[in-house]
Amino acid sequence: MTGSDFILLLINMDYLRVTDEALKKGAEILKSGGLVAFPTETVYGLGADAFNPKAIARIFEVKNRPFFDPLIIHIANIDALEKTADLSRLSKKTHDNLFKLAEKLWPGPLSIILPKNDKIPGIATSGLPTAAIRLPDNEAARKLIALSSGAVAAPSANPFGALSPTRAEHVKTGLGEKVDLILDGGPCKIGVESTVLDITDDCIKILRPGGTPREAIEKLIDAVEGYDNNEQRDSGEQGLASPGLLKSHYAPETPLTVLSREEIIKLPINEDQKTAFLFYDGNTRDRWLSKQFGAQEPPDSFIIKVLSQTGDLLEAASRLFETLHEIDNCNITQIFAQLAPRNGLGEAINDRLQRGAKKDVE
Ligand code: TXA
Ligand code: MG
Repeated sequence: MTGSDFILLLINMDYLRVTDEALKKGAEILKSGGLVAFPTETVYGLGADAFNPKAIARIFEVKNRPFFDPLIIHIANIDALEKTADLSRLSKKTHDNLFKLAEKLWPGPLSIILPKNDKIPGIATSGLPTAAIRLPDNEAARKLIALSSGAVAAPSANPFGALSPTRAEHVKTGLGEKVDLILDGGPCKIGVESTVLDITDDCIKILRPGGTPREAIEKLIDAVEGYDNNEQRDSGEQGLASPGLLKSHYAPETPLTVLSREEIIKLPINEDQKTAFLFYDGNTRDRWLSKQFGAQEPPDSFIIKVLSQTGDLLEAASRLFETLHEIDNCNITQIFAQLAPRNGLGEAINDRLQRGAKKDVE
């Protein structure tokens, strides 16, 4: 074996396609305190045993994530709620709401804030008495969790503040050898993170818009308090209801500007700058092309991408991070991105674009 074969072998050992064998290996690594990156329907997660504080500390270290930003606890079935949450502390109404949501929307991209039980260490929840609990809609993820301790703490598997990974390759590029095993389950179906919903209070609140649209939640329980990205918590770390909601987050390395459909069509363009244009739908791209260039071709210095030709929110969400990763690798100086419509998954898409456009992590 040559030196480079040996290096390849080492790399391959850390990177496995999802199979029963690979999942067993992943579960063993988790049980012995290691870190395993795994696919979910939203984005790839960086998992550690949710009952092991040392393993969880490594997540923060590897991601360079501030300790005030709590993790989501992933479970494999509704019964495992009891392993992580203290349901005896819920009012009757909250208890009813929890099961209405869980029965219809789990497995799925919804993380529900609940009082944590004593087995979940404080480091997982950044000292909060509550934990965000989620049952992912991905069979490999659920098998991995079930084969391990039954609860896996996992943030998205990217360096803190960077674009979230929707393919195993993104994890490899972002975190590489710092992870003990990367399980490759192909591209993520939804492509934006779960909705984080706080039901512990009388007033039910979306703390982070995500893969479960507000409309789906409101069909099952009372009205949910509005989420306004611009109002988000200017009060500093201590005041954050969801401490992960920093203004700048999910950011590509290239400066990003977000614009409405009307604004992007009219935007004055500079052909000398290597620029990427990220359109939500094909119709807007076509209107822009004909307004800016008439019958001419756009310059080669421009990269032009469309999230969904037909303007389908699910397709657009599933391609958002992936397309931003691609653009980010093209050595350009700026990105202009069109906002999505505000309904359904559009709320989550726009939230990620707006956070990606903010410059300062506060
Ligand atoms: O789709 C997802 O949610 C992905 C996959 C891997 O499951 N995970 C993910 O985790 O996005 P992360 O760590 O990147 O985001 C967790 C979010 C943060 O905004 C955090 O502040 C919030 O959940 N969160 C966690 N526990 C909380 C708690 N007890 N109270 C309020 N917010 C909480
Ligand atoms: Mg994240």
